[in-house]
Amino acid sequence: MAERKKFMEIVREIKKWKEQRNALILAHLYQRPEIQDIADLLGDSLELSKKARDTEAEVIVFCGVWFMAETAKILNPRKTVLIPQPDAGCPMADMVTAADVLALRETYPDAAVVCYVNSSAAVKAVSDICCTSSNAVKVVQSLKEERVIFVPDRNLGHYISRFVKDKEIILFDGYCPVHQQISLADTQKMRRAHLDAALLVHPECPPEVLDGADFVGSTKQIIDYAAKSEKTAFVIGTEGGVLHRLQEICPEKQFYLLQEEILCPDMKKTTLSSVRDALAQRKHEVTLDPEVIEKASVSLERMLSLS
Ligand code: 13P
Ligand code: SF4
Repeated sequence: MAERKKFMEIVREIKKWKEQRNALILAHLYQRPEIQDIADLLGDSLELSKKARDTEAEVIVFCGVWFMAETAKILNPRKTVLIPQPDAGCPMADMVTAADVLALRETYPDAAVVCYVNSSAAVKAVSDICCTSSNAVKVVQSLKEERVIFVPDRNLGHYISRFVKDKEIILFDGYCPVHQQISLADTQKMRRAHLDAALLVHPECPPEVLDGADFVGSTKQIIDYAAKSEKTAFVIGTEGGVLHRLQEICPEKQFYLLQEEILCPDMKKTTLSSVRDALAQRKHEVTLDPEVIEKASVSLERMLSLS
């Protein structure tokens, strides 16, 4: 009871500070349920980027991981962007550096460079165009070059190559540790256990997991698919945070994770107290070199112009 009271008090404080600061709270679908519940917009990487670019609010509080908050800053540099947990990173984004991209450009001078949004601002600044999991195929198809360097996610790059047959895709060896450990054996086991369920997975999963899926898409696309489907049971192959939204919008349907727990520790770092403190103290502001912002915005805006 005392816990509940404390919880409600923090939520009240967040609302008060949000108004006082003219702030917008953005949250990714992998965030803790209580963070999802206080967000002004809950979404996948693409939706959150668009909202960050278009908002009139003075302050953006980004409940997600570092590359997402950086993206918000790049797209709307005059706003104050706060990240409640500055240590919330993305191990996959850390797997590629701007120097890696420049070395690949030297090896393949005729290739276009596409970076997954799960990458640093410095990597975006040396790429031609960015993509998210929801528009990756469309982005690569839009290019005139016959050769494409795709960084950092080898699984998403492999997924794209299934649809884009007229281009050579040069893959980088990055991966998401959370999705990489999902296996074919998991899909087989869950298929047997839930015969009528549809299997919906994120393209960061390994190719053999994607092979057996009924649908592959971003977090938001997975949720939309389940909401529209006539099926009543679903096996989900992505971070467990999406279950909160799925259960909220489809209370009559059944959802099972491909593994007992699929958890991104960085996404779970944000707490209500850290959101309140970031707002109250205007702390953990994202700052970037203006030159990096200018260059990285080209690859992000080019992506957004396609959707
Ligand atoms: P979405 O763009 O599908 O939300 O994915 C972000 C992410 O980090 C997946 O691991
Ligand atoms: Fe990065 Fe994977 Fe976590 Fe997404 S789920 S933020 S790709 S580590």
